[in-house]
Amino acid sequence: MWKDKGMGFMLLHLQLVSFVFLRFVNSGSAGVTSAFVRTEWPSTDIPLDNEALAVPKGYNSPQQVHITQGDYDGKAVLITWVTAEAPGSNTVHYGKSDSNYEFTAEGTVTNYTFYNYMSGFIHHILVDGLEYDTKYFYKIGDGKSAREFWFRTPPEIGPDAPYTFGIIGDLGQTYNSLSTVEHYMRSEGQTVLFVGDLSYADRYNYNDVGVRWDTWGRFVERSTAYQPWIWSAGNHEIEYMPFMGETVPFKSYLHRYKTPFAASKSTNPLWYAIRRASAHIIVLSSYSPFVKYTPQWRWLVEELKSVDREKTPWLIVIMHVPIYNSNEAHFMEGESMRSVYERLFVHYKVDVVFAGHVHAYERSYRISNIHYNVSSGDPYPVPDKSAPVYITVGDGGNQEGLAGRFRDPQPDYSAFREASYGHSTLAIKNRTHAIYHWNRNDDGKKVATDSFTLYNQYWGNNRRRRKLKKNHLHKIITEVLTNGL
Ligand SMILES: *[C@@H]1O[C@H](CO)[C@@H](O)[C@H](O)[C@H]1NC(C)=O
Ligand SMILES: *[C@@H]1O[C@H](CO)[C@@H](O)[C@H](O)[C@H]1NC(C)=O
Ligand SMILES: *[C@@H]1O[C@H](CO)[C@@H](O)[C@H](O)[C@H]1NC(C)=O
Ligand SMILES: [Fe+2]
Repeated sequence: MWKDKGMGFMLLHLQLVSFVFLRFVNSGSAGVTSAFVRTEWPSTDIPLDNEALAVPKGYNSPQQVHITQGDYDGKAVLITWVTAEAPGSNTVHYGKSDSNYEFTAEGTVTNYTFYNYMSGFIHHILVDGLEYDTKYFYKIGDGKSAREFWFRTPPEIGPDAPYTFGIIGDLGQTYNSLSTVEHYMRSEGQTVLFVGDLSYADRYNYNDVGVRWDTWGRFVERSTAYQPWIWSAGNHEIEYMPFMGETVPFKSYLHRYKTPFAASKSTNPLWYAIRRASAHIIVLSSYSPFVKYTPQWRWLVEELKSVDREKTPWLIVIMHVPIYNSNEAHFMEGESMRSVYERLFVHYKVDVVFAGHVHAYERSYRISNIHYNVSSGDPYPVPDKSAPVYITVGDGGNQEGLAGRFRDPQPDYSAFREASYGHSTLAIKNRTHAIYHWNRNDDGKKVATDSFTLYNQYWGNNRRRRKLKKNHLHKIITEVLTNGL
């Protein structure tokens, strides 16, 4: 919700001015504050008549096509699209070849109003019983207006199933947003973990809110029609706008973006879990009740108990508000959730927590702050090998601009931070290794700005510990054998 545009830190060069300068400043702590100065496009939304937002040709043509995982383990896909003029066909034709759509699936159609805006017809179709690791083609719409797309199902759940996730947050619909999506599409990413704040349509008033949800749907279709985006909600999805009579939270978001929440025994689309390849992904809602005994808390406790690291070694949490953030923007907003959930994350050895909200990039060390209680105890984050790495990727490029003011000095928990637009990828190789990479939009090619090997918290550490013990024992035995007791 960064309202203040034109911050001191950010140099607003126009797109053609190319002034790139890389420098690292170590401000007293072990972490790095990058002073990379980038070119950027102005933080304004792409105009309505721009081709990036264009309505596909043809009467009542399906638009805003997006897919997400439709079940717990990745053998189903939820396909959504919008038709503007009439409900039209509600059928998906699909198959393993684009010349022979062997199967069909039927779904539901819904519409809603927001102020005087009346939405198009929103089609949601569950396609299930798919085979793993298979390319499927699908066709939607009627006659000459029909459109064709494809997607690939993930490999079967298994500890060494390789898979690459992209992580994108706070995207919006500016030229920076477009740059982020285009960079992501050139990566190896197979599925996006989206950490909240989709369209920023709530920056508009009255009927333009609905209009900007439609343009956003068309803008991201270039990726969302071909690979699943795993949705989580941010504050821009709440849309509590009493001045225009709209007071039902998440109305537009929930009509447009379905999640497979029931498959993980959740009772609310805003929090749920999926398993995909070798990862168990938990989606949380920063803007739903989460304290002890609430439905979200009770669901999370049960879901964490059910995680099987022998099957899915990688335990990933996504949510909107970061728990560790050292930016002036939204500082400590995650503190209430931290006080409730951090000890669970540490206990269950979550590998990594991805968040957005702050329009900059930041990564933490493995730290925790769970020894404090109101009357006593250590109130500071301390190094903790069981803790997740916390990564903020709120740098998708929305119209609010970058959050360029970091707290000074850089706190000890902050490992790397930079206010540039970009996205991340997490390439899981096997049960022990994943290659993490943050991609800054300004880099034409892949450069190692913030890239490293992430060792699995369950397998990586066990393996290392066993190895350590063995070496230690070996050393003692060797000493005893050479020197005697
Ligand atoms: C849904 O669409 C139909 C047909 O255009 C319309 O009559 C109805 O009012 C719409 N409902 C909502 C909630 O917008
Ligand atoms: C609070 O911390 C103190 C000191 O570490 C400890 O003795 C006490 O049991 C803690 N209380 C709770 C409720 O955790
Ligand atoms: C896991 O992947 C890493 C990185 O590709 C590789 O170095 C390592 O040997 C792999 N481990 C196993 C057990 O295959
Ligand atoms: Fe946000």
